[in-house]
Amino acid sequence: MTLVRFHKADGTLDREVVAEPGQRLLDVAWANGQPLEGACEGVMACSTCHVIVDAADFDRLPPAGEEEEDLLDIAAAVTRTSRLACQILMSETLETLSVRIPTAARNWSRS
Ligand code: FES
Repeated sequence: MTLVRFHKADGTLDREVVAEPGQRLLDVAWANGQPLEGACEGVMACSTCHVIVDAADFDRLPPAGEEEEDLLDIAAAVTRTSRLACQILMSETLETLSVRIPTAARNWSRS
């Protein structure tokens, strides 16, 4: 199980939840009222599921693929530890995961 901590854009803790191995972070966020649009529902066509991962946790995640990196290049408010929530899977080895919801999201597919 993974203890997931969702932080607001200002850094304050919003919610702490337990997630099961195999769950996508985007689904965990949706189930817990987080303001992530996820417009394409995880087919990597929007970048509205962008989250900023805690630096220590970021290094413990499998690296982003080329397609994810390309989408992050056009997401709003990107940082060095940005990821797409639809591409992060909970696992037995991931004990904790802290993420922050960015201040803005950009759905380039609709603009
Ligand atoms: Fe669209 Fe993640 S939900 S890229």
